[in-house]
Amino acid sequence: MSLRRGALHGRPAALPMAPSSAEEDDAAVLAAVAELAVDLEAPLHQLPAEGLPAQFVADVATALKAADPYNEPGEGLKKWGGIYHATGREGEEGGGLEELQATISTEYLSTNALYAGLWPSIQKFEREIVAMTVAMLNGGEDAVGLLTSGGTESILLPILGYREWGKLKGITEPEIICGDTAHPALAKACFYFGVKLVVTTVDPVTQRIVPDAVRAATTPSTVAIYASAPNFPNGRVDPIVELGEYAVERGLGLHVDNCLGGFYLSFAQQAGLLQDVRWDFGVPGVTTISVDVHKYGMAAKGVSVVAFADAALRRGTFYPVVELLGTYITPTMQGSRNGVGMAIAWATMVSTGQDGYRKMARDVHSVHTAMKAAVNNTGQSTCSSFFWSHF
Ligand SMILES: Cc1ncc(COP(=O)(O)O)c(C=O)c1O
Repeated sequence: MSLRRGALHGRPAALPMAPSSAEEDDAAVLAAVAELAVDLEAPLHQLPAEGLPAQFVADVATALKAADPYNEPGEGLKKWGGIYHATGREGEEGGGLEELQATISTEYLSTNALYAGLWPSIQKFEREIVAMTVAMLNGGEDAVGLLTSGGTESILLPILGYREWGKLKGITEPEIICGDTAHPALAKACFYFGVKLVVTTVDPVTQRIVPDAVRAATTPSTVAIYASAPNFPNGRVDPIVELGEYAVERGLGLHVDNCLGGFYLSFAQQAGLLQDVRWDFGVPGVTTISVDVHKYGMAAKGVSVVAFADAALRRGTFYPVVELLGTYITPTMQGSRNGVGMAIAWATMVSTGQDGYRKMARDVHSVHTAMKAAVNNTGQSTCSSFFWSHF
């Protein structure tokens, strides 16, 4: 670990006389910290009795992060870790975006979107992220959205919306039908909101939902179908068009989980790729879509959008609290929300632009195409997903 001069800034009493070299400085810091009997690299079970010098704490955190496997030096960016864009220092691939994100995060660190009157800039970011994402999904004039903390919350909210929508139709024990490739967030949502999850078996070869199985699983209590574009386990896009037709015929909702494929699929199509895939609001019957800005939208973690074909379904997700402390209304499940994620996401989206996302989609597609060919060339196995299997 490297300790810099001034490491004990703010704790002069613990310091010996100003040392003459960086090495002596480091040694002095270590000696002073040893005196405090603090080893931040060992597990802490309680707060340090005295607050530690900021620079020392920062140095320890930097050293800990540098030792994380994600940062292991190697050829190229080989670690994934749920980070969907290149991260790198200046001059490296992804360096420019990461620097912009770092600058923005410093600006917006101590903000709270709950107090929109104090930070209208955050409110602007939130509205524009939602609007740009809904437009990307071919949302019509009536389409609306909500900015959430991630894919999971973007799945929780529409499930709540479908439960409330069902109530309006007299359904007291709502059911949602999915394939067994649905993301676990759906099961959490059903548990949280008291919705019965009806799991159908996907086609063993294509790994896509079988519409006939959905038909067979439908009951008078079914409120919605849940499909993926694509699913997490193997990157397959469910037959959204057929499911949409059926949803319209039966008056059901249809949620499309586009958390993983969001931005990639939309911009791959804009780039002339994957022309036969259909999943967004251009498909009749699609009523809600979850799409993660913090995946292929390339933002830092903590930002996703759930889009609704119209405001009526979204209405069911709001709970204006009037019985405690006066009127309290928040758009999603959270109360206080740090504006930093929204500011980073907004800056990422507008600095990347449609051309940048098209490039990202082309790059991902060419890697995928090469991987698919490599797998298929082994003769051992067939890979046909739009993404990759997580091997
Ligand atoms: C298809 C799909 N849906 C939902 C999620 C959940 O997203 P999050 O981890 O942001 O909550 C993921 C995460 O990988 C996903 O791949």
